[in-house]
Amino acid sequence: MLCGLIMAGGKGERFWPLSTDDRPKQFLNLLGKDTMIQMTVKRLEGLIPIDRIFVVTAERYVGLVKEQLPNLPEGNIIVEPVGRNTAPCIALSAFYINKKIENATIAVLPSDHLIRDEGKFREVLKSAYEYVNKNKDAIVTLGMKPDRPETGYGYIKRLHEVEKINENSIHKVECFVEKPNKETAEKYIQEGTYLWNGGMFIWKASTILKCTNQYLPETFEVLAEIAAADEDFEEVLKQKYEEVEDISVDYAIMEKSNDIYVIPCDFGWDDVGSWTSLERYREKDEKGNVANQNCIARDSRGNIIMANKKVILNGIEDIIVVETEDCIMISSKDRAHEIKEIKKMVV
Ligand code: GDD
Ligand code: MG
Repeated sequence: MLCGLIMAGGKGERFWPLSTDDRPKQFLNLLGKDTMIQMTVKRLEGLIPIDRIFVVTAERYVGLVKEQLPNLPEGNIIVEPVGRNTAPCIALSAFYINKKIENATIAVLPSDHLIRDEGKFREVLKSAYEYVNKNKDAIVTLGMKPDRPETGYGYIKRLHEVEKINENSIHKVECFVEKPNKETAEKYIQEGTYLWNGGMFIWKASTILKCTNQYLPETFEVLAEIAAADEDFEEVLKQKYEEVEDISVDYAIMEKSNDIYVIPCDFGWDDVGSWTSLERYREKDEKGNVANQNCIARDSRGNIIMANKKVILNGIEDIIVVETEDCIMISSKDRAHEIKEIKKMVV
């Protein structure tokens, strides 16, 4: 049975100061009427019923998950006492889901991405699920055509097509490289056979557990002990989880496994990674400003303004202004990538 596992424990630091440790990006409404995690759940409608959708997150965000996803059964929230990155959070969840749902296939999904064509996305998930049903050890990834040498993504080198399911081509993967440096990323773009990793993985709970055992044996042992605790599950989880290795699934498993496949996708994916990415989705005025209606931009162009107060610009170009209860951040757009570092200095 196909289940969804939404990872919602990240910090979303590049959207500081709106995204904070108390309310990171996935719980913000950056693009319209829903928050990122609400959009993530909604786009599964018609494919995965809510009682088979699980959310794994840190203890401090459980309140936000309940508030923003009131229909999610409480037992479907998997709580990490401390953040240890995606490899352990996925493995912990596989143990948890395995107990509840027999022969589960898990679509592991980030909670903070945008997908434009949701129908196409569900078709891709369906094809991935079918493939994994027939090939029980397979890990299916979703690949996006790259248009720049982005160093914040994983790269997937695809080989020949192994099967076509409902219009979707499944390719064998030669290698997976997490976050290469600029030079390597440029080489990959020129080479033409690499795709960006969309951060979504479709695999059986049993494969997750097998891979964790193989590539992170010590972590597996700790998690197996937690899972075996049954009635004392929460207590043992609190005591033991911090012992697991802090590592992402991309480095721990995807770079190492030989049983990886990729579906090249064109459903309009974006990980909405920084303030400047909002320009791709939010409506702009005729001078290219992204701003609330009460903002006055006189002779000003290309600015991004997120503020409740009335902001008045006069002859200003290419800046970002973000107002929160605590502060006002003003940055030039071409230095938006430094915001994560600035947050570390300031907070
Ligand atoms: N529960 C939980 N616990 N969730 C976590 C944790 C954790 O410790 N750490 C991160 N997450 C969640 C984030 O909230 C996000 O939804 C997802 O896991 C991915 O984590 P990111 O921290 O955003 O990863 P990334 O963007 O650096 O890289 C990944 O995504 C890229 C595409 O956006 C990788 O998979 C890359 O290969 C990929 O290209
Ligand atoms: Mg991300």
